[in-house]
This record gives sequence, structure tokens and C-alpha cells, in this order.
Amino acid sequence: MIELIFATNNLHKLEEVQAIVGDRVIIKSLNDIDCHNDIPETGKTFRENAQQKTDYLVNKYNLNCFADDSGLEIDALNGEPGVYSARYSGSRDMERNIDLVIERMMNNENRTARFKTVISLHIDDNQFFFEGIIEGTIINHRRGSKGFGYDPIFIPDGYDKSFAEMSAEEKNLISHRSIAVSKMAEYLKNI
Ligand code: IMP
Repeated sequence: MIELIFATNNLHKLEEVQAIVGDRVIIKSLNDIDCHNDIPETGKTFRENAQQKTDYLVNKYNLNCFADDSGLEIDALNGEPGVYSARYSGSRDMERNIDLVIERMMNNENRTARFKTVISLHIDDNQFFFEGIIEGTIINHRRGSKGFGYDPIFIPDGYDKSFAEMSAEEKNLISHRSIAVSKMAEYLKNI
């Protein structure tokens, strides 16, 4: 048995990760260890942000832990919104964030983009990173109502529907997050 703290209080994320890593790994949330602080996320990359979160937990609690950081990178916008995905328009309102992307992409022919997740895993004083990427294109009007974030304007390569038109199961099979988590699960299986 391995016990890991996941630097999140998002139970939906926690359950999704637990299902992928299996019963041998017990995942606990920040609430479970009574951590109610806002963990700083001031890095310039997903990797820096993910590591910042695990460093914080290691320094404060000295526990085995992991953290993820994700976002959308659009080539024509020089990789934006990137680490600013959650607050691209200056607010957490996803309608405004999506509107801003659509506006900035209005006359752009280059529609290529990707969702990326980086996981930082700190275990027994060792540091590991696992990355998941899903390539796709940005459309200029919303399609679908499922999912969250930028799902309505992202069409993964090889599909003709947006992430928001897919069921959770269908999206989870191919998503950046599940690719990164599966890589971590593979590593944990072998220790
Ligand atoms: P987080 O690091 O997983 O909290 O993701 C940061 C932000 O990136 C979210 O608030 C979303 O705006 C965006 N994002 C991350 N993953 C996804 C996804 O699977 N679909 C849509 N948006 C996402």
C-alpha cells in the first residue's frame, strides 16, 4: 500500500485519479490532512506550478504527495492562455474566458492547440514529472454542453466533436489529464 496526498480538494478529480491508479494507492485530499491554505501557484510553466504545490506540501508536512497543473496552449496566441487558463480574462468566469479566446482567434487561420497536464510526484525524497498532451483545434463557436473549462471550443485531433460533446467516459479515455495520470499509475505499479 502507498499513501499519497493529492494537492486538491476537487473530489471529482480525486475519484478520477483513484480509479486509474487502483486500490494499491490510497489517495487523500488536502482536507484529509487539514490543509486549508491557498497553495501558491506563481510559476511560468505547468511544471513549475505543479512542483510548487508538491514542494509546499513536502516542506510543511513531509508527506508523499502529487499535484497537477493543466491548461490550454494555442499556437496562434503564442501558447496562451497556458498557465493563465483559469483566469485568462482576469476573472474565473469561463464564459468570459472562452469569449476572449474566440475574439483573439477571430481572423486566425492557424487553429492548432493542445491541452497539457503536468503532474509532479514527490515520493520517498524523489521527484518525478509525468506529462499528458492532447492535440486539437480551436473552433470559433461553442459546441456541446458537457465537461468544463474550454471544452466547448476544443476538437481533439481525429474526432469531429468537441470535448463538450463527449461523455465523461469518452473524454477521460483520451484527455491530457488521464494520459499523465496513467503514466504516474504505471510508475507506481512498479515500486
Ligand atoms: P487545472 O490546473 O486542472 O485546475 O486547470 C486550469 C484551467 O485549465 C482550468 O480552470 C480550465 O480553464 C483549463 N482546463 C484544464 N483542463 C481542462 C479540460 O480538460 N477541459 C477544459 N479546460 C481545461
